[in-house]
Amino acid sequence: MRVHVADHPLIAHKLTTLRDRRTDSPTFRRLADELVTLLAYEATREVRVEPVDIQTPVAPTSGIKLASPKPLVVPILRAGLGMLDGMVRLLPTAEVGFLGMVRNDQTLEAHTYANRLPDDLDKRQCYVLDPMLATGGTLAAAVRYLVERGADDITAICLLSAPEGLKRLDQETEDLHVPVTLVTGALDERLDENGYIVPGLGDAGDRLYGVVD
Ligand code: URA
Repeated sequence: MRVHVADHPLIAHKLTTLRDRRTDSPTFRRLADELVTLLAYEATREVRVEPVDIQTPVAPTSGIKLASPKPLVVPILRAGLGMLDGMVRLLPTAEVGFLGMVRNDQTLEAHTYANRLPDDLDKRQCYVLDPMLATGGTLAAAVRYLVERGADDITAICLLSAPEGLKRLDQETEDLHVPVTLVTGALDERLDENGYIVPGLGDAGDRLYGVVD
């Protein structure tokens, strides 16, 4: 797995405000949105393109456009939704699919409870959005699910990651034989005993949308 940890003062600046417990939900949503657009710029460095001939007002020339099939953006419900607008701002012609993943309390395995994806993922380049790479179980299951349905190139975009999640994602995707890339705003220290990233930013879903009991 390729890993890209953002190294940019603007990203670090926005992440600092995002981490701050005093930041309210509207500000948190706006900053998450802005951060995703910055991360998406790096994450789409290898988006597939094809040549196109055009005519400028002055002369014919050649350029590039996004190749078909278009990339697929997949936010993981619920917190991944807070990253969708920031991503499609950069890739407005991408298709969007949705995956709801939940962890079974007994087996601790993540499974899919909602799936709105195109039927045919054959040779699709996919961008998976999940703000927090914590244990890595959910993201690894999502990547495997997409690859089993035909996706052949996966980039996960996470605002924050823990070393434990990064290691698990790497281990659980190495036998897939498709390129998997992680682009993250920062690699934090560790997970705590409740599975929260330290220092992290708390529960991303709650901070985006408020606490739901
Ligand atoms: N999910 C979150 O929202 N926050 C964490 O710190 C870990 C998982």
